[in-house]
Amino acid sequence: MSNSINSHVFIEKTAELLKSAKRVAILSGAGVSKESGIPTFRDAQTGLWANYRPEDLATPQGFLQNPDLVWQWYDSRRKKLLEVSPNAGHYAMAELAQFVPELTVITQNVDGLHQQAGSKVVLELHGSITAFRCFAKGHPANTDNIEFGLTSPPKCHCGSPYRPGVVWFGESLPGDVLSKAQQLAKSADIFIVAGTSGIVHPAASLPFIAKEAGATVIEINPEPTPITDTADIFLQGPSGQIWPKIIGLLKS
Ligand code: OAD
Repeated sequence: MSNSINSHVFIEKTAELLKSAKRVAILSGAGVSKESGIPTFRDAQTGLWANYRPEDLATPQGFLQNPDLVWQWYDSRRKKLLEVSPNAGHYAMAELAQFVPELTVITQNVDGLHQQAGSKVVLELHGSITAFRCFAKGHPANTDNIEFGLTSPPKCHCGSPYRPGVVWFGESLPGDVLSKAQQLAKSADIFIVAGTSGIVHPAASLPFIAKEAGATVIEINPEPTPITDTADIFLQGPSGQIWPKIIGLLKS
């Protein structure tokens, strides 16, 4: 059962549940970085990239067809990160660690903003936009050598072009990270889903695994998603506004 009516009551209920929780997991998506000025994955592309679908730029096939284009798109997104900072939602999620014995943030985001805000235990399901490896062999790059503004991907010592260290459509998630996330979903007593459209699996399956294993599932999103009907509590609104209210109640 989900409910957004009288959301203050549900924020209070969430804070009450967190006070007695032992193991808490948060699954975050692009929506939690929106208030930092990063468009979500499914927001319309703007400017130079308006004519491309993210799905065409975020696939191994897209990279093989046009490595320069894909490199430049990721370069522009990486450059954008220099201008942005974590928002109140990221800071509040980091602060939650002071109030619960065990907290893990499982994120689909590649922007590193949870870590910048101070979250200590972060599982990056879809990798990181500031890491690189070569396309052919997966040799990791020394990130300090990857300049901004290159029009083509630089090459690894083996001759293969470097690619961003993110998970593209059609690729598997890092197995160790995914299996840790699944274990957490099975063992958390509270599982909070924030800012994700809930349509990209296997990440989107985690709240269902958690629910099945007996966790209370709480969702934070301005819009209902395919997860909403399964959530025990739906806190309808922006992450940067809802999270600080929860932490405020935990402090009071
Ligand atoms: P999406 O862009 O699919 O969804 C963003 C979600 O955030 C939507 O449900 C919005 O309603 C919600 N949202 C918008 N503003 C918000 C706010 N201020 N606070 C909270 N929520 C807000 O992003 P993801 O669900 O993260 O994967 O997308 C999942 C994956 O699909 C991405 O990691 C990426 C993409 O394809 C890969 O690249 C493999």
